[in-house]
Amino acid sequence: MRIITATIILIGLVFVSCKKDENNVTPACDGSNPNYNSFVQSVMSSHCISCHSDMATYAGLSVYLNNGSFAKEVLTDQTMPQGGSLDATTLNKLQCWVDNGFPEN
Ligand code: HEC
Repeated sequence: MRIITATIILIGLVFVSCKKDENNVTPACDGSNPNYNSFVQSVMSSHCISCHSDMATYAGLSVYLNNGSFAKEVLTDQTMPQGGSLDATTLNKLQCWVDNGFPEN
């Protein structure tokens, strides 16, 4: 009986982890050249500022770009936005922005 329970839990875990992979897209720059003022600011205010008021300005956000945690949380691990997700088009543009050295304007 215990082994059956363990097997069911294991199958469940495999299923959950596969499902998570499906939702993850690997961001790839789409060739666009977005900047903070024209694009990133509106993404931040719709998806991030409610929890991260310190990221509401370019200077505040730059801290997390310079230390690599923005790229890690949003593009690589996609753990942010917490409780939500960004669509593939947005992720691809953010990848361009990071690749281009996150221009302000
Ligand atoms: C519902 C609240 C919530 C939202 C929305 C949210 N975050 Fe977060 N974020 C958190 C919390 C809580 C942590 C710290 C705990 C953790 O790492 O899980 C965190 C951690 C981070 C970190 C790491 C900070 C550090 O000190 O290294 C970054 C970067 C980040 N978030 C960026 C973002 C970005 C960018 C967005 C929008 C795309 C976003 N977050 C949306 C709650 C949120």
